[in-house]
Amino acid sequence: MRVLVTGGAGYIGSHTLLELMAQGHDVCVLDNYSNATPEVLNRVRGLSNGNVTDFTGDVRDPAILNRVMQDFRPEAVIHFAGLKAVGESEEKPLLYYDVNVGGTLALLHAMDRVGCKNIIFSSSATVYGEPVYLPYDEAHPTAPMSVYGQSKLMAENILTNWAKATAGTSAVLLRYFNPVGAHHSAKIGEDPKDIPNNLMPFIAQVAVGKRDALTVFGEDYDTPDGTGLRDYIHVVDLARAHVAAINYADKSTGARPFNIGTGQSYSVRDMVAAFERACGSPIKTKQAPRRAGDIAAMQADASRAAAELGWTAEHGLDDMTASTWAWQSANPNGYDN
Ligand code: NAD
Ligand code: UFG
Repeated sequence: MRVLVTGGAGYIGSHTLLELMAQGHDVCVLDNYSNATPEVLNRVRGLSNGNVTDFTGDVRDPAILNRVMQDFRPEAVIHFAGLKAVGESEEKPLLYYDVNVGGTLALLHAMDRVGCKNIIFSSSATVYGEPVYLPYDEAHPTAPMSVYGQSKLMAENILTNWAKATAGTSAVLLRYFNPVGAHHSAKIGEDPKDIPNNLMPFIAQVAVGKRDALTVFGEDYDTPDGTGLRDYIHVVDLARAHVAAINYADKSTGARPFNIGTGQSYSVRDMVAAFERACGSPIKTKQAPRRAGDIAAMQADASRAAAELGWTAEHGLDDMTASTWAWQSANPNGYDN
């Protein structure tokens, strides 16, 4: 199938390109490189020995979207392009709504103009908000606690309305839990531009000597060791969920949300210990109060994805930390080597 991947030069997008190509799909990327570098696509080309068509531009721009749609004629779209920093979203709400909601709207208009009927959307478990029960299933109430989460839920609602109103269309809403890890080649991985917001890239930068110590945000949660619990998922498993979703969209109509997680959760302390096993040296930590907006625990019920997409996560915790370490140690400065 011809698959347009918006934000394909990013962390999850680049891993997904490789999985799509491995399954024989033709891929095309639209990215504005606001949080990525074109070097990513060179590496993807090298690893796959395949062709990656790419366009540089903003997903909110109808002119570039029309060009992509007319030149590449996608049969399906995977929509990764967006902004994802929770803290920044509180400071710049209009920017987040503009990119995450406006970008989705512009994309759907462009798809309609050429009759492209299938879309896979990068949503987030953050749409659920404070757990009423755990693990979250897809029927759990949605009550996002940040502008970022609101923007994802708004985009989900727009996609749901579109799929209902437009005959023959399918919108697969993938609610990711916490993506971590890197491709086994250690050639592509997560490369945060500034100080990492997320746990795993921060630990990796401590391990490689770029940061002094990990700040543990809160050790007084109601969890076994007092630190936050999350459902971490290997990025290659997550990438494969998109391939499964492409096949599902081809055979279905309407909109459907799916949790994409492992169903297992680990604490901050578990992650530090696992990373120490992977890199063979201690990770220095320091204590700090809880981070504003954090919840104690998140965990996916991923049974719908197993039953309907035929997808389950295959990589365990040690694969997640070992692949992160392999990537970080081979590329201490990310793609700027
Ligand atoms: P990323 O920042 O690495 O990738 C996003 C890509 O989109 C980047 O290459 C960036 O340059 C591009 N982009 C951003 N704005 C754009 C625009 N206006 N036009 C064109 N391209 C644009 O992030 P990621 O971790 O790969 O996340 C991909 C998607 O998954 C995002 O939508 C994110 O919200 C969602 N998501 C990520 C996580 C996570 O923890 N990484 C969790 C849940 C959901
Ligand atoms: N943590 C630390 N120190 C750090 C960073 C994180 O102790 O330097 C802790 C957090 O307090 C939390 C856990 O590590 O307990 C995970 O934090 P992350 O920032 O890695 O991940 P979050 O669960 O907060 O958020 C991530 C994405 C969001 C997404 C959410 C959905 O960043 O975009 O998962 O599950 F919405």
